Amino acid sequence: MANPSLLILAGDGIGPEVMAEVKRIIGWFGEKRGVTFDVSEDLVGGAAYDAHGKPLADETMAKAQEVDAVLLGAVGGPKYDVLDFSVKPERGLLRLRKEMDLYANLRPAQCFDALADFSSLKREIVAGLDIMIVRELTSGVYFGEPRGIFPDNEGGRFGVNTQRYTTEEIRRVARSAFELARRRNNRVCSMEKANVMESGILWREEVQWVHDNEYPDVELSHMYADNGAMQLVRWPRQFDVIVTDNLFGDILSDCAAMLTGSLGMLPSASLGAPMANGRPKALYEPVHGSAPDIAGQGKANPIACILSFAMALRYSFDMGEEATRLEKAVETVLADGVRTADLMGPEGGTPVSTSGMGDAVLAALDASL
Ligand code: NAD
Ligand code: IPM
Ligand code: MN
Repeated sequence: MANPSLLILAGDGIGPEVMAEVKRIIGWFGEKRGVTFDVSEDLVGGAAYDAHGKPLADETMAKAQEVDAVLLGAVGGPKYDVLDFSVKPERGLLRLRKEMDLYANLRPAQCFDALADFSSLKREIVAGLDIMIVRELTSGVYFGEPRGIFPDNEGGRFGVNTQRYTTEEIRRVARSAFELARRRNNRVCSMEKANVMESGILWREEVQWVHDNEYPDVELSHMYADNGAMQLVRWPRQFDVIVTDNLFGDILSDCAAMLTGSLGMLPSASLGAPMANGRPKALYEPVHGSAPDIAGQGKANPIACILSFAMALRYSFDMGEEATRLEKAVETVLADGVRTADLMGPEGGTPVSTSGMGDAVLAALDASL
């Protein structure tokens, strides 16, 4: 049987730096576990703009549609701030999500015990934390029409974005959340602002409909998203699965990142409908961006990107045991006090560079054999 195929789009800033460590780990799985992938690489974001004048070439888009999974680093950077909106690096990523129809974005926030003292919250609040944010990724205010910046009648301008959700868009992402909850602690909390937005009212009604008709066994609650942000900081362990829209999910997942100690820790999987082989269309990427403030200095934490590859092993390739092996290797390294700069607190540890963290994870993988 042919090897599963992976398309690597490292992107900009720290994207290529963290992806370099993932490539070594992919190599390790090939050599030591006989788990081999057909890996191809291409450009996305500013790197693609520099080469082609657009943030995602049509050929790259076509390749992404064909492979079993895409791994993405990060896109964007100050160099590209001056570009027209239509060719900004972020548009390349949004095109991938939209055209691959990756509607369910899984953003797990897990607090590794070794980092519980490092979070900006108290240990007793975050220790043992394991929540899953399911963010709708292909609709809402990110894509709704009309949108744009227009002249008004007084010589000024106005900007427009439209929050728009259909029944089916809400139902399908709700199903993803309920399915995940069944394999976890069987609880879903849906977040919107039904108190001020009609799209929020529809969201709440449709999530409730999916629950009542298809998943009555799962415990469902609803929360306004602003309260949700507060509750995430107050008592995050009250949650199991959170399902929310594109914009609230973007914000709430960055907030959840700090519960784990660093934005450099949070992986994600963006999943669509099943392909002919039964696997979901999929793209895996860290939640963080291109981190221009630390790019090129070997300071980036590669763990979010490494754990994104672990999610690929689990969700695209049915290799749950190998995924756990990789996650355990990361846990071991953290327990041993190995720390990139973003994880360095007063309690100290062994400071390492991006590749030093890669070395440590590879050593822990070797030790797992
Ligand atoms: P960012 O996530 O790049 O950085 C926020 C802060 O977190 C910075 O201080 C950064 O140094 C730190 N950080 C992020 N990842 C880290 C890591 N792996 N290790 C250590 N520290 C890390 O967000 P930003 O600064 O708001 O955005 C920078 C650029 O990235 C923008 O162009 C933005 O649009 C883009 N962006 C891209 C993605 C993506 O590709 N998925 C996600 C978010 C932001
Ligand atoms: C993310 C990022 C993206 C988003 C940007 C870069 C388009 O912030 O993946 O969280 O807003 O979705
Ligand atoms: Mn974001």
